[in-house]
Parts: sequence; C-alpha cells; structure tokens
Amino acid sequence: MVKIKEIRASKLNTKKFIAEKIKEIREIVGDGRAINALSGGIDSSVVTMLAHRAIGNRLLTFFVDNGIMRHQEPERIVKLFKRMGVKVQVVDAQDRFFYALKGITDPEQKREAITQTFYKDIFGELVKGSGATCLLQGTILTDIDETVAGIKRQHNVFEQLGIDPQQAFGYKIIEPLVQLRKDGVRKVGAALGLPMSIYKRIPFPGPALAARVIGEITREKIETVRTATAIVEQELKDVKAFQYMAILHEDKVTGIRDGKRDFGFQIEVRCWDSVDARKATPTKLPYTKLFRIAKKVCKKVPGVVSVTYNITSKPPSTIEAV
Ligand code: XMP
Repeated sequence: MVKIKEIRASKLNTKKFIAEKIKEIREIVGDGRAINALSGGIDSSVVTMLAHRAIGNRLLTFFVDNGIMRHQEPERIVKLFKRMGVKVQVVDAQDRFFYALKGITDPEQKREAITQTFYKDIFGELVKGSGATCLLQGTILTDIDETVAGIKRQHNVFEQLGIDPQQAFGYKIIEPLVQLRKDGVRKVGAALGLPMSIYKRIPFPGPALAARVIGEITREKIETVRTATAIVEQELKDVKAFQYMAILHEDKVTGIRDGKRDFGFQIEVRCWDSVDARKATPTKLPYTKLFRIAKKVCKKVPGVVSVTYNITSKPPSTIEAV
C-alpha cells in the first residue's frame, strides 16, 4: 500500500495545490469523461469545482437523492452550483436506498449497504450510461486513517482496504483531496471561490442521516432525525463549533404529553470543538441554549419526549453515532 503524504493546512499553498490537481485530473481523464457525485458537503463540493475547472463539461455531476439527506438539500445544492456554472443532475434513488437498508441494525452493515447501493448499483449504472471511465471523489486523509484503523468503514474508501475499484465496480477512482484534512479542504474551497456557505459548512457524513439513526433505518425515523437536525443546525449555527448534529436513539422512554403518558423517542444532541475531526471535545454550550433546543425539538418533532446532550470527548466517542 502506498503511504499518502499529508499536506498540513498550515503548509498548504492553495494556488499550487489547485494547479497541480487540475493538471493531474486532465492527465488521468485524457479526452474522456469523468463522473462525480455531489452531496453538497465540503469535500464533494471542492472536488466538483476542481474537476469543473479541469475538464469543464466533460465532467458529469450527479446529486444522488438517497432520501437520507438534510431538509431540502437537493434543491439547494443544484441551485447553488447552477449559479457557479456547474450543471448538476438529480437522480431519485430514495426507494433503492431504503430497500437496501431495510432490516439492518449493525452500524458497519448499514455503511456497507450504502456503499454497495451507491457505488455498485447506482453509480455503476450511471457510469455505464455516461461512457465515463473515471469517478472523482472527495476522500480525505481522515476517512482513510479511520477506515484502515478499523474505527469506521468510511463509505468512500476502497484501495486501502484492498478493493480494486476497477475490478469491483468497473471504473477508476480519482481522489484529489487524499493528502488533506478538513481544515486544508476548507482553504482550497475558499481559494476556488466557493461560497462561504459551502466551504465553512459543518462536515456531514457520506452515509448522511443514516449515520444518525441508531437501529433500523425507516422513512419515518429519517424524517424524525431530519426535522431535529434542521432545528439543531439552526440553533447552533452561530456558536462556531466544528460540527453539530441530532441523533435518534432506538430505545424509547416514558414521557408526558398533554397530561398523558407518552412512550416516545429520544434525541441526542452533539456539538463538537475540533480542528480536523481526529480528536474532538464537546462544546461548552450555555444551558439556556440547550434548554431552548430541548424545548423546540420536543415541540416540533413528532413523537420526541426526551433530548440529551453528549458530554464525551473523541476518543472514546466518535463524532457520529453510527
Ligand atoms: P467520526 O464519526 O468517525 O467522524 O468521528 C469523523 C468525521 O468524518 C465524518 N464522517 C464521514 N465522512 N464518510 C464521510 O465522508 C463517512 O462515511 C463518514 N463517517 C463520518 C464525520 O461527520 C466527522 O466529521
């Protein structure tokens, strides 16, 4: 396995990095076409812009609507990239993801089901239909570290696990960001002229809201965690934390609603201070803020009767719950 040479954000010359990556993408893709999936997260957004600069409309960008994204995400991202001259096609794959996730409760199996559905089924078909020979993706060094260490199977890591994408899925994978961590990717995003709402956006995992539902994924549970996520993101957007989220627990607890016993769901709020996601500590949020979130979540998210705040650092916690 080739050791990847890290480029630290403090040492990163964004102009040089961008020029090198554009050259590299042009060389690998040649006269052909490349394809990529844009999720609206920082990593895939930066890769989209880099590749757009490198090969223009020979890059085919898809937004795979897997049904487990945040509120109104497909519309927002398509609009935003259109303004920057990048055409994004939306693929409705909601049914296929929910079907693939049905009955699975084990975290790693969930991640594997998403990987297979995404890369083999959906992307395999898109690549074949498009005639593209390369897939560009936004894997970063932290994804590789954690997968190789066996902490979490990041959905986008293959070669380091001994999987040859050419053989497994039928296409080459180009990963322009593998030498960077999140802080470096943000710098490249700013240098590429992406809007601040993208390059300063809090990280969001590839397995999307499925990484935030403990136990089996259903449409209803995703809707619950999606509504809670929108509230938590809105309430915490000004606290300058690295990342924040809502997690839906599997176990229910007894609560009271309208004077009656209500056996309902629990939402766990997490808010992290971190530089590069390798280590993280819970943000010391004011109690008034926490109370407000709890009140709003219980009022606006159907079936939720309990809200907790995670006060564990990473390690031993991880940032996501699944
Ligand atoms: P954990 O939960 O491993 O997360 O402490 C570290 C950082 O990575 C994000 N994350 C992912 N990103 N694919 C991604 O692209 C994934 O499968 C994935 N899982 C976690 C997480 O949100 C955090 O910023």
